[in-house]
Amino acid sequence: MLVLGIESSCDECAIAVVRDGKEVLSNVIATQIDFHKPYNGVVPEIASRMHTEWIYGVYEQSLAEAGISDDDIDAIAVTCKPGLLGSLAVGVSFAKTLAYTLDIPFIGVDHILAHLYAPLLEADIEYPFIGLLVSGGHSLICHAKAFDDIEVLGASIDDACGEAFDKVAKHYDLGYPGGVVIDKLAGQGDSKAFTFPDSNLYKGAHTYDVSYSGLKTAVINQLDQFHNEGYEKSIENICASFQKRAVDMIVKRLLLAVNDLDIRTVVAGGGVAANSYLRKRLGDEKNVEVFFPSLKLCTDNGAMIAGLGYHYLQRGDESGLDLKAEARVSRFKRHSGNR
Ligand code: KG4
Ligand code: ZN
Repeated sequence: MLVLGIESSCDECAIAVVRDGKEVLSNVIATQIDFHKPYNGVVPEIASRMHTEWIYGVYEQSLAEAGISDDDIDAIAVTCKPGLLGSLAVGVSFAKTLAYTLDIPFIGVDHILAHLYAPLLEADIEYPFIGLLVSGGHSLICHAKAFDDIEVLGASIDDACGEAFDKVAKHYDLGYPGGVVIDKLAGQGDSKAFTFPDSNLYKGAHTYDVSYSGLKTAVINQLDQFHNEGYEKSIENICASFQKRAVDMIVKRLLLAVNDLDIRTVVAGGGVAANSYLRKRLGDEKNVEVFFPSLKLCTDNGAMIAGLGYHYLQRGDESGLDLKAEARVSRFKRHSGNR
């Protein structure tokens, strides 16, 4: 089954063609980053306007790269939540129009579940696994029991992990998006220069939760308090120390979940899964098999949407023309209390 995957939840206008939930025939990603850079963040109004202008061209390019015509598409999968409402609406309307015109089924899928599906496009991974989703909007540790059954074990109680990278970068005027720049600068710095604080939440119902707001404040406003003598207060050292704490903080809770549930497979996804320190830190972990998506599948893309959508379509699920775009999701069941 050839599934067209459409992703327009934020600032990437992306469409892919995937066969049988696995084989990526094309994966076109048109990024709007340059248009949002002057504002140091995504401007929703600009994002939806760019999606409207670009989506048909991205569609044509995706078909051309896959070497197919629109008659070859069997079904469509589209991100319908969560994300920027105006941007989501462009992808969802495009999917509906295409499905109606071509007389084929379409399905709305959840962007968060799709990020966790990305590594499954490149490797054979069995459920259950412990999922780590770290992106600009979410930081989740979860128990993935099936492609559509995710129990959230822990989350950030305030800023998302990628959001903390972006806000620190914005404060130090490093550019947007912040994660990539900080990752690069950190490579030239010494993470021992500052000992930034961990969040102290891992008790009771918060066993697997993290908080990034305190870390962000420390890095932005309380540098002197956490500086270690003998080290320069260079931007490289600030980035290296921040990155180490941001990653170690969530990895500590992730490994706790791995041990408590005795599930030794970890699957990571989301933009921050591209971080070089996170990849090395988890890669070095003994007794845990870790799967990261390749860099192109970490950030937003249509392949993960088509891949996940295939499984719903295969069992006969499909959306109607009344499918809504939703900015937020509340569906995830969060585990509470100690295990
Ligand atoms: O998954 P994504 O493309 O969009 C969302 O769904 O949010 O993630 C974007 C986030 C941004 O916050 C960006 O700064 C971060 O991923 N990011 C990184 C790296 N590359 C992207 N964070 C840390 N290190 C990186 N190498
Ligand atoms: Zn994303």
